[in-house]
Amino acid sequence: MTVTFRKLHPHVGAEVSAIDLRQVHDRATLEQLRAGMDAHGVLVFRNQPFTDAEQLAFAERFDGALHVKPGASALAANRFGNDAIADISNVDNSGAILKADDRKRMYSLGNRLWHTDASFQDPAGRYSTLSARVIPEVNADTEFADMRAAYDTLDDATKQKLDGLKVHHTITHSREILGFDFSREEKERLKGAIHPIVRVNPRTQRKSLYLAAHATRIIDSPVADGRLFLMELTEHATQREFVYRHVWKNGDFVIWDNLATMHRATAFDDAKHHRELRRVTTIDVPLPA
Ligand code: OGA
Ligand code: MN
Repeated sequence: MTVTFRKLHPHVGAEVSAIDLRQVHDRATLEQLRAGMDAHGVLVFRNQPFTDAEQLAFAERFDGALHVKPGASALAANRFGNDAIADISNVDNSGAILKADDRKRMYSLGNRLWHTDASFQDPAGRYSTLSARVIPEVNADTEFADMRAAYDTLDDATKQKLDGLKVHHTITHSREILGFDFSREEKERLKGAIHPIVRVNPRTQRKSLYLAAHATRIIDSPVADGRLFLMELTEHATQREFVYRHVWKNGDFVIWDNLATMHRATAFDDAKHHRELRRVTTIDVPLPA
């Protein structure tokens, strides 16, 4: 089947023509979608009534291996009994809205900092699929920033400075910024990973900045210099011009490339409104032949 893409933003994001992803099994269509990801970084699909099992199966068809070690798995058991399904919600196991000081809520507030999924793992996260199950009537949007445009618009001296730089990422960092306390055992389980600060899309050869609130320091640089540089790069990379803001509808399904974009949740009154999405993320390893 032929798929078409309608741009939602000059740099990043496109809406895909009507399709039922649960029924897409042929490699040719999946390849068109992967090409769409290469072009747009974020794809929006409307009316995708996924169950958890269907979402897991789709992510595997689309890109192979799944990310099964989310940071949250070091803290508490997964509500769905499967660590490949990230619970992007403000409810507890009984479905009740979390109290303001609930640990799960405090932890998930970290999603409001600009980040990429699973940059604290090696291999890191590649594509995230996010399925909207319960969307409140108030805005509770997600923003995506284009890390390819961010790289392209750096001056030559900065590009040279980035050459060969590596960064340590751990999920504890983004949570500690917000005052979240980890036990010693949790920290032991969440040591993080080291990745280059510039990533290259293996198919398009396009470069992108690889940043996240999980980034703690630049390897072989003084900590303060590294942190300041990461903050300055993040400020550059998340300027309005590079950002698409997604306003959710029930049934929306959004896929983003974590090597080409950063994203963040935006504020809403989460003590009042139920919001529930499920995320399945693939890891950055070649797709099996
Ligand atoms: C995620 C995430 C943002 C949001 O699912 O990885 O960061 O708006 N979500 O819920
Ligand atoms: Mn995320």
